[in-house]
Amino acid sequence: MRSHEGQVVLVTGAGRGIGAATAALLAGRGAAVGVLDIDQGLAEATAASIVAVGGKALALIADTSDRGSVFSAAKHLSDAFGPLTGIVNDAIWIRYGPVEGVTDEILGRMLDVGVKGPFWGVQALLAHRGDAPAAVVNITSPVAEVGSAGTSSYTAIKGAIAALTRQLAVELGPQGIRVNAVTPGAVPTPGARAIVDEEGYKKRKAQTPLGRLGTEVEIAAAIAFLLSDDASFVTGTILRADGGITVKSV
Ligand SMILES: NC(=O)c1ccc[n+]([C@@H]2O[C@H](COP(=O)([O-])OP(=O)(O)OC[C@H]3O[C@@H](n4cnc5c(N)ncnc54)[C@H](O)[C@@H]3O)[C@@H](O)[C@H]2O)c1
Repeated sequence: MRSHEGQVVLVTGAGRGIGAATAALLAGRGAAVGVLDIDQGLAEATAASIVAVGGKALALIADTSDRGSVFSAAKHLSDAFGPLTGIVNDAIWIRYGPVEGVTDEILGRMLDVGVKGPFWGVQALLAHRGDAPAAVVNITSPVAEVGSAGTSSYTAIKGAIAALTRQLAVELGPQGIRVNAVTPGAVPTPGARAIVDEEGYKKRKAQTPLGRLGTEVEIAAAIAFLLSDDASFVTGTILRADGGITVKSV
């Protein structure tokens, strides 16, 4: 039996990058996955590539900041494959820049996608799960633990998500729901490449004890572990899959 057989997992931001790799990995190991993205073309392409190799996937078009559309996506997924057993809150919208340049509009959108999104995701899981144990995986960042120039709004979001992960582990544990997070290191996804240039990646490589950037699949593997039965007694944990970047001082 494959390790995620019987699981029904909603992955937000699954049209590309870490979310897409996670959806593909989980489906390859037997899970049915909801490929949720705000971009219809990306969601459909990821879901089609999973189905093409015999996996179970459903493209779901939704904006994670919109509670109603996240709930309706979760309902579609449970109608298609059965009650949800997990959610990966991966979707993100990022703008970097010095703190004095953070506008109401930018901060608002970042908070809507980065903080409200995971709230709606968890609520949708609660509304559309069955009696089986369930699991939430949030995605945080090294900036939740160490400062970094020009990332104040992103830092605020990921710090909130790290705290929320611990909080929800306590609050939802009695309902049989494990809540954990993964901290990816530097992974040159399409989204990350749009805000980090070659110079930035050179610095990140030098700062990473393993001496290289990470891959989407390496982050997906950490996420999959937290969703698996191998992690059945793991909750409230923030698992770094970061090549060591967060623990290096100089
Ligand atoms: N790539 C990295 O180096 C890195 C490092 C640390 C943390 N992370 C975190 O990993 C996660 C994935 O990052 P990534 O680099 O793969 O990102 P990405 O930008 O490549 O992919 C994000 C996906 O989310 C979708 N999306 C954006 N807003 C949405 C919304 N409102 N509703 C639904 N979907 C939406 C996008 O269309 C896109 O497909 C994020 O939470 C990010 O903060 C990434």
